[in-house]
Amino acid sequence: APAIPSLWGIPLKYLSLITLAVQNSMLTLIMHYSQVSAAPSRAYSPATAVLMNEILKGSISLMIAFWRIELPSPDMSGPPGLARVKRLVGDVFSADCWKLSIPAILYVIQNNLQFVAASNLQAATFQVSYQMKILTTAGFSVLLLRKKLASTQWIALLCLAIGVGIVQIQAGAIRDVKDADAHAMSALKGFLAVATACMTSGLAGVYFEMVLKNSQTDLWVRNVQLSLFSLLPALAPVFYLYASDPQEGWISTLFHNFGGWAWATVSVQVFGGLLTALVIKYSDNILKGFATSLSIVISFMASVALFDFQITFTFITGSLVVLLATWLYNHQPKRTDSISWALGWP
Ligand code: C5P
Repeated sequence: APAIPSLWGIPLKYLSLITLAVQNSMLTLIMHYSQVSAAPSRAYSPATAVLMNEILKGSISLMIAFWRIELPSPDMSGPPGLARVKRLVGDVFSADCWKLSIPAILYVIQNNLQFVAASNLQAATFQVSYQMKILTTAGFSVLLLRKKLASTQWIALLCLAIGVGIVQIQAGAIRDVKDADAHAMSALKGFLAVATACMTSGLAGVYFEMVLKNSQTDLWVRNVQLSLFSLLPALAPVFYLYASDPQEGWISTLFHNFGGWAWATVSVQVFGGLLTALVIKYSDNILKGFATSLSIVISFMASVALFDFQITFTFITGSLVVLLATWLYNHQPKRTDSISWALGWP
């Protein structure tokens, strides 16, 4: 049997899932803090952050893809560096590379909307509402990957929607609060952004999984293709930004207020993108949802500590329903070792 890829003896599958849970909560907190804590006049541009994210992720993936190229021995006759470059260019611009344009556009939309959502909702509220992507992911997995879901899993999905709804009730109650210094938050705007981001997340994730698992092409080559196709849609809002306020130079308009917190957000996002790709490869999008629901608990506790987030009965009820639904979704009644099944344990 082929060896299961592992790091420090921990299978990459679990390592990537656990790391993703931690990364998810960090991103929500940093993104919320970096946008909300600044006065509107000192906010940085999300469009620039999304573009930087794609450029960095693409460059890292390119280096890994280059390093992973295995040349057949006859190719070693010429200069090995040149043969590798040729091979990589051929792989990246393969006949089916256009397939990545679909998830690329969807992810750029999602990554921009995430900023709108994170800056208009409480960090923990955003985190819980964003769990609706489990619903859209399941829907698209059934449609596109022909996954079969048990009836308990459909019930779990319904519970999930109810749990997210309960949390939203409490978000409505604290609508338009003024957080920290100055940033006015709008619950409706935040909720619409998060709902749309859930749709694109489900479709893009499942589409990426389909492309990845239906071919032999290396994950890192696929990531490079994804980033390349992201550049154009990510540049569009950047052009708009410049066109609407062209008093300064290019660079200073784009990087206006782009300080340490902005770079921290981008770094955590880059890390998360690479992790997501690994999780989709070594497990799947549905297990990814399980990992990220863990991050609800982490961000919830951090929000209480950092942002004076009010612990209300409604919030706790909603969060518990979401966690219960996630457990139920992964619970397989036919097998006695249901917990280990839920975690995908062998
Ligand atoms: O919330 P969700 O899990 O759908 O978020 C996926 C994130 O991971 C997006 O920000 C997307 O840009 C990123 N991603 C990536 N490379 C992949 C798949 C997703 O950078 N191959």
